[in-house]
Amino acid sequence: MRLDKYLAEAGLGSRKEVKAILKTGKVTVNDVKVKDGKQQVELDKDSVSYDGQPLAYQEFYYYLLNKPAGVVSATKDNLDKTVVQLLKTQDFREDIFPVGRLDKDTEGLLLLTNDGALSHNLLSPKKHVEKEYFAQIQGQVTQATVREFAAGLTLKSGENVKPGQLFIEKSEGNKSEIRLIIHEGKFHQVKRMFEAVGMKVTYLKRLRMGSLKLDEALALGEYRALTDEEITKLKDESGKKAEVK
Ligand code: URA
Repeated sequence: MRLDKYLAEAGLGSRKEVKAILKTGKVTVNDVKVKDGKQQVELDKDSVSYDGQPLAYQEFYYYLLNKPAGVVSATKDNLDKTVVQLLKTQDFREDIFPVGRLDKDTEGLLLLTNDGALSHNLLSPKKHVEKEYFAQIQGQVTQATVREFAAGLTLKSGENVKPGQLFIEKSEGNKSEIRLIIHEGKFHQVKRMFEAVGMKVTYLKRLRMGSLKLDEALALGEYRALTDEEITKLKDESGKKAEVK
């Protein structure tokens, strides 16, 4: 990788700022002063320092966000605040995006990353990565509803969806609370599945995507970096299922 790209990725500044920094002669590669941004560095071999301080290079970033309602799952929006705008200045990067979408009024787990390959794998319909939701429902969810979901529903649009595992947490009169596991990510899927059985989702929160669980220690709007173990598991499961298919 070119030294100027490396320095920008390491957070030293924009490509333009990096150019100016290089001119100061404060950057060294393996203790040798380097002013040419075109010089190549090998990520696993070379040691790059600025002002005597070794730099840590990170290519990919992964954040687990507890998305609040009222924020849109996009990188740019003319009207609403976006999920990437919840990142602190020091964590914000132009290339970070949300993996899939939660509706504006949906809360819960949303992965933010700049790893396009992982995002692609997690969202691919072929990989069947499970998504688990908690929802409050206007309507009485019964074992008959559970069976309908397990059989696979036809949405009002005429589209068929794959079987979903529905668990009743509470059902009192015309109000119910449920957990639902689905294997696809169609537009408004959970809301449309309940619509298909004559019910309405009044509150929706995503609890899990594959092995990645919502961290209940995160308040709405808060986020944290994924652990190495969480990243490895996500990569393993989204990659392996591709090979099996
Ligand atoms: N299903 C929905 O209907 N909305 C979401 O935000 C996620 C899944």
